[in-house]
Amino acid sequence: MPNFPAVFGDTKFRYIAKSDTGEILIKVTQKDEEFFLQIKQKDDKYLVKAEKITRPSQVVFLQQALRDFRDLCGCEATYSNIEPQKTKNKKRYEVLKDIDFFASDFENDKEIWIEVGFGSGRHLLHLAKANPNIKFIGIEIHKPSIEQVAKSCELQNIQNIYVLDYDARIFLEFMEANSVGKIFVHFPVPWDKKPQRRVISNDFINESIRVLKKDGQLELRTDSDKYFKYSLEEFLKLNKTDLHVKKNQQSAISSKYEDRWVKQEKDIYDIIMINQEKSVSEGAIGKISFDDLFDFTKIKEKFANITKRDRDSFLHVEDIFSVDENNGMIKISFGASSKNERAYVLFSKDSTRYFPDNILKTKSNKRAHGLLNGWLKEISGE
Ligand SMILES: C[S@@+](CC[C@H](N)C(=O)[O-])C[C@H]1O[C@@H](n2cnc3c(N)ncnc32)[C@H](O)[C@@H]1O
Repeated sequence: MPNFPAVFGDTKFRYIAKSDTGEILIKVTQKDEEFFLQIKQKDDKYLVKAEKITRPSQVVFLQQALRDFRDLCGCEATYSNIEPQKTKNKKRYEVLKDIDFFASDFENDKEIWIEVGFGSGRHLLHLAKANPNIKFIGIEIHKPSIEQVAKSCELQNIQNIYVLDYDARIFLEFMEANSVGKIFVHFPVPWDKKPQRRVISNDFINESIRVLKKDGQLELRTDSDKYFKYSLEEFLKLNKTDLHVKKNQQSAISSKYEDRWVKQEKDIYDIIMINQEKSVSEGAIGKISFDDLFDFTKIKEKFANITKRDRDSFLHVEDIFSVDENNGMIKISFGASSKNERAYVLFSKDSTRYFPDNILKTKSNKRAHGLLNGWLKEISGE
């Protein structure tokens, strides 16, 4: 193993960190990007690869760092897949946005309508064409549907749709209070055996109320009488609400699912909740980072693999790595039970910071950060 820090070619190898469980990480800087390489020992050989949580934005940075590490060590590679390859250029559609766009760049300058789980996109595309002055956000987790709808937008030159690959149960957190006109949830998966995966829940209804304008509406359409009854009960848990229930009403455009259920003569139910109140705007969540400096020596002394919970948020501290007596990091997973994130927290004499540091500003991440901050204070005796 070389001495750290070291430089080879374009790559700076900052330090090596080791965990008690035998994991080895090397901190690397390539073209202003920081990431870890991970080393695993297998008999008398070493496997050096990308560390999953901190992958760089481009695979070529990683390949270059791996080649530079091989040459820095002067080791012989018995197997490698790090030579530059011709990678297929995946088409990037303009309508496809990632969650960071909604967290920081999305402008609420027009009426917004949201469709959750748009599937084939028939309803979303129809609405967007019929309402060119409205901004549509379509949220899906099924990649082929996302690709297909993004492609249709491009082919049909539809410019008022933003397509997002994200879990809709968390997405509403990114929208401002009183900013949305309509939310459509059409034929959601009923998840009879895993109810925790359902889109409609108490949290989702309350978040909808927060983001909907006064008189805005949340529209559920389902063919499942179980899901209909479950959802109605959830809506009725509200202290005060304006609900409209309909059965077998034809809609302006029917989706593939709807066609199938109608053919099978299944009943179709709508629940429409009209929002009655203007919600109080909450302040922005702000950057999730540490105000205090934590002493790595103390953290190491009291370290434990803990799990903590606060409502739907959790924190799991997985491992600790030491660079030297005063420097090191912990590996954590955290966030909402339905959408967890993973990161490291790096400790040095002059900083305590997340790595990667672009922690999404969600309420569940903020709560998990509170759990971590509290635990770090507790074990470092502050
Ligand atoms: C039964 S399909 C209905 C599709 C479409 N709304 C229609 O009526 O044809 C349900 C869709 O919801 C999507 N979905 C399920 N859970 C989701 C979630 N948490 N966030 C976003 N989309 C989700 C699924 O991928 C699927 O495409």
